[in-house]
Amino acid sequence: MKLFHPAPKFELTDSQGELVTRDHFAGRYLVLYFYPKANTSGCTREGQEFTARKKDFAKLHADVVGVSPDGLNALCKFIESKDLGIPLLSDPHKGVAEQFGALNEKGGILRSTFLIDRAGVVRWQWKKVRVDGHVDEVYAMVEQLHAADEAMNPLVAVRRSKRALGGKVSRTTIKRLVQAAHLAPSCFNMQPWRFIATTGASLEAVHAGLKGGNAWAKAAPVIFAVVSRPELDCQLSMDREYWMFDSGMAVMGLQLQATQMGLLAHPMAGFDPAVVKKGLAIPDDHVLIALVAVGRPVDVDVLDAAQQKMERAPRERKALGDVLAFDRFDFKTD
Ligand SMILES: Cc1cc2nc3c(=O)[nH]c(=O)nc-3n(C[C@H](O)[C@H](O)[C@H](O)COP(=O)(O)O)c2cc1C
Repeated sequence: MKLFHPAPKFELTDSQGELVTRDHFAGRYLVLYFYPKANTSGCTREGQEFTARKKDFAKLHADVVGVSPDGLNALCKFIESKDLGIPLLSDPHKGVAEQFGALNEKGGILRSTFLIDRAGVVRWQWKKVRVDGHVDEVYAMVEQLHAADEAMNPLVAVRRSKRALGGKVSRTTIKRLVQAAHLAPSCFNMQPWRFIATTGASLEAVHAGLKGGNAWAKAAPVIFAVVSRPELDCQLSMDREYWMFDSGMAVMGLQLQATQMGLLAHPMAGFDPAVVKKGLAIPDDHVLIALVAVGRPVDVDVLDAAQQKMERAPRERKALGDVLAFDRFDFKTD
């Protein structure tokens, strides 16, 4: 089983004859363990040890499920006689075990455990499991994964609007960035965003409109012009014009993809829209919402002293309480 790939979509019955599928566990961690045979000593111990930790796993939003080739009767007896508290599934033809790579050369079950994350992706596997200490080791891994998943998304955490950028960016990269933007959600899936990637000679039209404070952007190998107009998206009651909102979400997708690719993507409002619109032949009824300069990080020496200082300054945000209220509007309005 390849790590970081979606887990096979299984459909098996539990000891009560109920159908259980992978999707049943969507949004939760799933510890799926394959064991050779109900009622044998190792499988009993493994089942009982997982049962004993069931509540600990549940606190981490994890379910533990055992799979073996045993029939429903054997599973029922196993659960009753050994006091097991976890679901056991029947894989009589070992088809699911095979999909997970949990078979040995002779076609028997290889005692194995798979840790599937909340998005259905296989994140860890244990093959040729020895029962001693196994449940503790699986628990430790779920705990680690849960802690990492609950932490701030690393791309969100490290994305910055830095100015010291330059280098080259290929067309393939430009397409990848806009593909990421284009996966943004939008009202009725209207996809109102339009991106003009200016590179080479067309950059001059953009440079001509940049305000002085954005002169650093002239070193960017590509500057995107983000364009839209109200008619391209839902225009709903009480000023809910989603073309701006949805275009903004698309730009965030682009920025996160750029961050993942080691690039900087810096949005800008500091430009003369009339100049840039004319230079890029953007029709009058379209709004040039923002420019986004994209490039590779370079040494801050390229910036003037004031901008170098800003570049090194820590990120600043208002207190969370200024932007988050619970249950009712509870913000200062003056
Ligand atoms: C719509 C918009 C317009 C912006 N305009 C400019 C700009 O003209 N020049 C600039 O240097 N930064 C500009 N920024 C970048 C912001 O200053 C920056 O996002 C903010 O200071 C937070 O910093 P961070 O992105 O590094 O977290 C703009 C950002 C947005 C979203």
